[in-house]
Amino acid sequence: MNRLWHNARLMTLEGPDLGIVEDGVVACENGVITYAGPRAGAPEAAETIDCEGRWISPGLVDCHTHLVYAGNRAREFELRLQGASYEEIARAGGGIVSTMKATRAASEDDLVAASLPRLDALLAEGVTTIEIKSGYGLSLESERKQLRAARRLGEERRVAVTTTFLGAHALPPEFAGQDAYIAHVCDVMLLALAAEGLVDAVDAFCEGIGFSPDQVARVFEAARALCLPVKLHAEQLSDLGGAALAARHGALSADHLEYLDTAGVAAMAASGTVAVLLPGAFYFTREEKRPPVAALRANGVPIALATDCNPGTSPLTSPLLAMNMAATLFRLTVEECIAGFTREAARALGRSDIGTLAPGKACDLAIWDIGQPAELVYRMGLNPLHARIWRGQ
Ligand code: NIG
Ligand code: FE
Repeated sequence: MNRLWHNARLMTLEGPDLGIVEDGVVACENGVITYAGPRAGAPEAAETIDCEGRWISPGLVDCHTHLVYAGNRAREFELRLQGASYEEIARAGGGIVSTMKATRAASEDDLVAASLPRLDALLAEGVTTIEIKSGYGLSLESERKQLRAARRLGEERRVAVTTTFLGAHALPPEFAGQDAYIAHVCDVMLLALAAEGLVDAVDAFCEGIGFSPDQVARVFEAARALCLPVKLHAEQLSDLGGAALAARHGALSADHLEYLDTAGVAAMAASGTVAVLLPGAFYFTREEKRPPVAALRANGVPIALATDCNPGTSPLTSPLLAMNMAATLFRLTVEECIAGFTREAARALGRSDIGTLAPGKACDLAIWDIGQPAELVYRMGLNPLHARIWRGQ
């Protein structure tokens, strides 16, 4: 199967900027890009598609989601509008634990059915790879159910799904203490789920209402013993030094980072850990402290963006709106926003086979009805996707 797209303008994302090619061609064979560049030099192909001057970017990569869950937290949203804080609701037994109850009560089929509309919303805006975390089961059987539902979503739709085990998300009520639960996460849940092939990476929630740095370190050691990459919800509500801890363990990414300090930035720079910024959660929780974007830039820390799609802090299924929020709220540039959902998001997943348009990469494309790249970031609520190509189709 050999096909090419011509009469297009490319954002290849090769190099430090958008890698723009006017009058460009993308060619693919068996789902893999064989050429991405100017018309002169393009190969022949059995099938040619005229893009009529539209822009082609790499398919979008949403590198941090909690897409699979049951129920919703609209009532909690109303309570927050009346003045309750996210932390107060969590400490009163709401928050993550309330979604845990709904998720435990759901079947695997229920979870797939509940998650498909959210997945479809992301695909409609050009997502071709998505990371999906567990963390609303908080027991072996329910975390398994969540991860299996995530894998099934990748069979129901033409999208690549990568799974992350987030057993250390919250303390389930049947455990009296956090240390006992962390031992169960490491010695029982992670071992079993990894053996079943359900775990591509391991995450934890390092926070006052989550787990301490020492407890997170135990989870990371268990993950590394299984050769699984790690990442962390760090410095979302307070600074516990989570990003530096993640960096010491060679984490792929540290995510959220509103309360990240200069030592954390330096540690991430030294280890090449990607900063995944989540403007949807910042916006929805009405956080006032911004992540230290200038320091991340100055130290050369790669910056990715994601939706953080979850019922409690970011019920967001629009990568384009996340880009707009990152620009407006965090002052990211247009180039940083687009790279954040493509090249840098791929880096945050440890994936060198996606995220840019170059020979050898998966032929995952988003074809946009826009006149210039800034339009992807500038609009709020209009979706200019013309076509989504996954593995060449
Ligand atoms: O990324 N911070 C922890 N996890 C999620 C929120 C989970 C929830 O409230 O359900 C987040 O913000
Ligand atoms: Fe999250």
